[in-house]
Amino acid sequence: MTSPSLDYRRLFDLSDRIALVVGAGSGIGEASAHALAAHGARVICADLDSDAAQRVAQAIGPAAEAVQLDMRDATSVARVLSDLPAPDVLVSTPSINVRKPLLQTSDEEFDRVIALNLRGTFFLLRRAGQIMAQRARGSIIVFTSIRSEVVEPGQGVYAATKAGVRQMCRALAAELGPHGVRVNLIAPGIVETPLTAQIRNHPDWYAAYAEKTIFRRWAQPHEMAGAVVFLASDASSYVTGTVLFVDGGWTAHDGRFTPPL
Ligand SMILES: NC(=O)c1ccc[n+]([C@@H]2O[C@H](COP(=O)([O-])OP(=O)(O)OC[C@H]3O[C@@H](n4cnc5c(N)ncnc54)[C@H](O)[C@@H]3O)[C@@H](O)[C@H]2O)c1
Repeated sequence: MTSPSLDYRRLFDLSDRIALVVGAGSGIGEASAHALAAHGARVICADLDSDAAQRVAQAIGPAAEAVQLDMRDATSVARVLSDLPAPDVLVSTPSINVRKPLLQTSDEEFDRVIALNLRGTFFLLRRAGQIMAQRARGSIIVFTSIRSEVVEPGQGVYAATKAGVRQMCRALAAELGPHGVRVNLIAPGIVETPLTAQIRNHPDWYAAYAEKTIFRRWAQPHEMAGAVVFLASDASSYVTGTVLFVDGGWTAHDGRFTPPL
């Protein structure tokens, strides 16, 4: 049944919604915070780097506020989320990558990546999920990566966390769906942010990654924002447990060769 009386233009409207963006101080989280505010949400910019969170909140204006949060610390996550107004939308971006062959990866490096990407994400999802389930509403959006699906040398630990987060979110979607909460993931390809600065400092590496995409270029952070707004809003009311690839076609083609047709 279609709904002729439905105002389809309002599907993406986030007025009266509160969006908590963790990792809002940089890159994709920063662009997400701006985009959610532009669609009407009140945005809480959370980050380990409180100056960065403050800078972004100020740039957005009165619709935003800043808070410091360390995702690796379960107590900090529980306290901060309990003190804040209950979010209708959670966006989680923080992750780190130590690009090294597995055989050269130390215990400390392994633990450091797991502590934020997997364990920290778990702390955040657990607390936000509890709050949203109690209110029987909410949309959770977690950033995974093409590395949850395709790998290359030097990405083993990062890829494991990105695949782990993907499965964790699918399970959470199944657990929270009956409580009115949706859980989805976004998988970027290559985006120009501080996380990928190491690659941009190597012209061959940078160019090879660009060539791997169908568009033959890197993405800018704002090119992730439309997917965030979609998954945050009622436009995606029937979407849960899914991974939205925003990767310029990286995972669609193998990119080795264009036949002479
Ligand atoms: N940039 C890319 O090319 C790319 C590609 C694929 C996937 N991703 C994913 O997108 C997400 C966002 O990446 P980005 O490029 O915007 O990263 P970024 O490094 O630019 O931003 C990460 C933000 O997280 C914050 N942060 C770090 N540790 C934290 C902690 N313990 N608690 C709270 N905040 C903390 C940082 O201060 C920073 O503001 C990540 O999950 C990443 O894996 C990025």
